Amino acid sequence: MHITASFLLLISLTSAWNLPLPQRIFANPTSEREASHKIPTVHESAVQARRILHLETIGTLSTIFPSTHATENRPSDVSGTPIGLMDYFGDCEPGTGNPTILAISIATSFKNVAAGSNITLSLRWHSPNHRPYSAAAIPRFSLVGHLEELTPEEIMGQNVAACFVKYHPDAAWWLPGNKIHESKWVRLVVKEVYWIGGFGDRAYIGWIPVEEWRSVTKEEIDKIRLPGEKKHGWRSWKSWFVSQPEENQEEGLEL
Ligand SMILES: *[C@@H]1O[C@H](CO)[C@@H](O)[C@H](O)[C@H]1NC(C)=O
Repeated sequence: MHITASFLLLISLTSAWNLPLPQRIFANPTSEREASHKIPTVHESAVQARRILHLETIGTLSTIFPSTHATENRPSDVSGTPIGLMDYFGDCEPGTGNPTILAISIATSFKNVAAGSNITLSLRWHSPNHRPYSAAAIPRFSLVGHLEELTPEEIMGQNVAACFVKYHPDAAWWLPGNKIHESKWVRLVVKEVYWIGGFGDRAYIGWIPVEEWRSVTKEEIDKIRLPGEKKHGWRSWKSWFVSQPEENQEEGLEL
């Protein structure tokens, strides 16, 4: 009795909320024929990811604790364990899509990197206008790579501090050269990109080759719109990925 009731509820929710079949939530269909929606290509997904990097400012840095901890005041059993910690980034190298990070020497993420860890930046899209009808439908991704220190020429030439402080006015307090915390400018050199665009029946889920990530142009980033980016009600969330002409996205779809 209960099973039947919840099954019927699931079915009605599935159609009312335009949810995918359960087996298509976290995986793409194996054939094009099976897809109920147009699934963006890998390159289109790369453009979405680059726009998210451009508009978002905060993500999670994941690193791995080293095995040695002689001088560290930390539990011994965390060696080899990943830890994800919130941090700021800035999209200050549009030519490559390598995020810029202000590395504070005493922060755990950067201590782990100094001890040899690679690093992953994970981020997700937050609509400025609407709560999503399902957060699982919203793009998120991880950039896997390593940190590289910027040279003084790059710092001056690319106006890194101005770019970063535009995203993070408060970071002006801990820019390199401040009196309290030792810090330096680094880039996350992106090696691999793992993307979950949303539900698998209408969004690409999988690896994006780094060449696709790097080849995205400013024009492409400016042109695309992310779910909920426009102020026209949550209908836009449902129709996201049911490709809409750009004009229709501008106005007049308020529900
Ligand atoms: C970091 O990643 C590179 C591949 O990009 C790999 O060769 C290296 O072993 C990794 N370093 C650690 C400490 O896992």
